[in-house]
Amino acid sequence: MAAPEQTEPTRRQRTVYGGYKGRANPSEREKIMHLLDQYSCTEGFVAEYLPRWIEVSSHEGVKGGLRTIQLREASHARLMKARLQELGGTRQYTIPAERREKEIPFFAAPEKKDVEKLQVLATLFGDRDEFLRPVTDLIEEIQEDQQSKELLRTILEDERASIAWLVEKYKTLSTAQGDA
Ligand SMILES: [Fe+2]
Repeated sequence: MAAPEQTEPTRRQRTVYGGYKGRANPSEREKIMHLLDQYSCTEGFVAEYLPRWIEVSSHEGVKGGLRTIQLREASHARLMKARLQELGGTRQYTIPAERREKEIPFFAAPEKKDVEKLQVLATLFGDRDEFLRPVTDLIEEIQEDQQSKELLRTILEDERASIAWLVEKYKTLSTAQGDA
């Protein structure tokens, strides 16, 4: 593997949730709990590193948008953790150490430009619908647990708004850079 990739976050399309892993023929509740566990954890992770980026960002506008997104991510993490506990679960998932070690220093780095950080996220999201698909698929599947269904559906509305802002800001800053 090339050296730069070892110190930087992966620059390829990701999905918001890796999908259910566990028992064969899981119940609706088991699938929901698995998703809430993993997704709340990744949202909490994003909410953890964004303040470090906000601190070192050199654009007032970037700081402003990121503050809103950070608050959304933190609230999603809280909501999903609470719902998981109501369903009788506890958080089991942890962010892989390798991901933490790449992403936290990258986003916290004062020498990395905002446009570079925005580019990493814009690339990860790639196709927004594909990125969110594992969650939209489960939402469609849910028959019984209307509370989790609508909780997730409204969280995804926030995610779409956050992604739209990040991609738009990336385009604006990269165009400004190209003009300079
Ligand atoms: Fe998120």
